[in-house]
Amino acid sequence: RAMSEPAPTHTLDPTPAPAPVAADAPARVRCFSGIQPSGAPHIGNDLGAIRNYVALQDRFESIYCIVDFHALTTTHDPEVLRRRTREMATALLALGLDPGRCTLFVQSHRPEVAELMWLFLTVTPVSWLERTPSYKEKRENQPEDVNHGLLTYPALMAADIVLYKASVVPVGRDQAAHLELSREIVRAFNNRYGPTFPEPQAVYTEAPVVLGTDGVRKMSKSIGNTIEIFAPADEIRRQVMSMVTDTQRIKRTDPGRPEVCNVCQLHRFFGDDYEEIWDGERTARTGCVDTKKLLVERILRHYAPARERYAELMASPATVDGVLEAGAARLRPIVDATMAEVREKMGLR
Ligand code: AMP
Ligand code: TRP
Repeated sequence: RAMSEPAPTHTLDPTPAPAPVAADAPARVRCFSGIQPSGAPHIGNDLGAIRNYVALQDRFESIYCIVDFHALTTTHDPEVLRRRTREMATALLALGLDPGRCTLFVQSHRPEVAELMWLFLTVTPVSWLERTPSYKEKRENQPEDVNHGLLTYPALMAADIVLYKASVVPVGRDQAAHLELSREIVRAFNNRYGPTFPEPQAVYTEAPVVLGTDGVRKMSKSIGNTIEIFAPADEIRRQVMSMVTDTQRIKRTDPGRPEVCNVCQLHRFFGDDYEEIWDGERTARTGCVDTKKLLVERILRHYAPARERYAELMASPATVDGVLEAGAARLRPIVDATMAEVREKMGLR
């Protein structure tokens, strides 16, 4: 089947994934997602993905991973990588991942995933990897460092997910092409060696693409157009106040167009009264500066408990490290079983 065929997708209320194919499939459908420790978490990460990680903890057997192997394709300073890995783990716990209800771990702490990636590369045509949009983008953006990891990135992602035979994958829309490629790789494996893995399915929130402060490109750490969740309040204020609004609203008395104003769009996620706020803009009762100031307040209020918890956990790194260690240990039997099955099927034993 064509790679461009769209994967079935869901918003916040996903129907359970199709029954996994293998005979020894887990009793509960598994959910998996990964996040790169490549910078400070921003509201795009939360509204597009992390909110769903939290919501799906109770629906599925959920496994969440800080993908440090993936981050090595762009982050080359060991101390920076180590710091950001712990910060991302702390952020996820602060935002509501509960180690009693999900498993949180660091990708390199279960290095078997690298073996599975190699095995997957032997069923993956190079042409599939070469046409991945993110690979083409990175080749443009970091021409001085077109390392092989950028090309093989989606095969490692496929291995991440199916090492645990997971099939439900909460991500933002920017990961759609990666997810589709993961499905293709899994299908290619199943075709060659017999039904082994379920095909992963993306699950989206109601905000699958959050735009950045520039109002045009998706919010992204690498672009630097983010509103951070755990930065000092002044920094968050500065980021929100710098937002580009409706570019056709020149004078204070011009009516605003909430449909094209990213500040107005973000208000949807931080209060029930966004329609009133939109009305104020349309009638020019309020100006862009008022609406931004209100957004700062709302964002700070919304994230106040998470920010408090983040500060507490940052002061107690041993707690966070303990969660990550226990997470990797808990996954070991699943990994051993999958790898034994795969090695057997491929003729390695
Ligand atoms: P990353 O920081 O690239 O590892 O992304 C972590 C998760 O956040 C992935 O599921 C992304 O799809 C999601 N994400 C990142 N940026 C955005 C955005 N601007 N809008 C929606 N989701 C996003
Ligand atoms: N590629 C994802 C991103 O950049 C991170 C990721 C790695 C991931 N492995 C995954 C996401 C497995 C979902 C499932 O955001």
